Amino acid sequence: MIHISPSLLAADFATLATEVKRVEDGGADWLHLDVMDGIFVPNISFGAPVIGALRHHTSLFFDVHLMIVDPERYLDDFLKAGADLITIHAEASQNVGNCLTAIRAKGCRAGLAISPDTPAEAVFPYLDQVDLILVMTVYPGFGGQKFMAEMMPKVRAIRAELNARGLSGSVDLEVDGGIGVGNTETVTSAGANALVAGSAIFRAADAAAVIAQMKQNAKA
Ligand code: DX5
Ligand code: ZN
Repeated sequence: MIHISPSLLAADFATLATEVKRVEDGGADWLHLDVMDGIFVPNISFGAPVIGALRHHTSLFFDVHLMIVDPERYLDDFLKAGADLITIHAEASQNVGNCLTAIRAKGCRAGLAISPDTPAEAVFPYLDQVDLILVMTVYPGFGGQKFMAEMMPKVRAIRAELNARGLSGSVDLEVDGGIGVGNTETVTSAGANALVAGSAIFRAADAAAVIAQMKQNAKA
């Protein structure tokens, strides 16, 4: 099953509730929420209060991508804000296993992300503890960057490992960065089934058409 997750980072921040409704009505499956702390990445976006405020305006699945150091400090805030999935970065936590366990213990889905310089094998020890693996297809920090096709071997390697361990039905494999209509087939053929798209969806006049085209281009 393919999940299209528009990234709010590319939305008009002055009218967030309207923007979320636009993609919800347009057929989005999830809403991707990029939290940046200015330390793990060289940019600051928004935090739990903004996510909590939006929770009252949509029933979309909240796919929260934490690009913050020591994410364990703020888990409760994001849970209270209404996160359905919290993804932490393998490079950002001193104790990835404990952090994933803490997220799940609170009844939330747990995800693990890797930046472009981190190998696929870094997530293998945690596959039993996660609901999603996120392979970054740009260096995290900014929307609108160019898709890195050279990350596809990592997506293939993780899909193969999930298959080998019988986890493909229960763990989603997400890609994030520079995704749109033009490379949906590439990323889904490599094994991704959750696609984050910021600029491609929110900067389009017709978000629904882009979402529909991505779903059509996706290889099941
Ligand atoms: C980058 C973020 C992405 C970003 C994607 O650090 O994690 O989610 O918003 O934006 P596009 O789709 O424009 O590359
Ligand atoms: Zn993201």
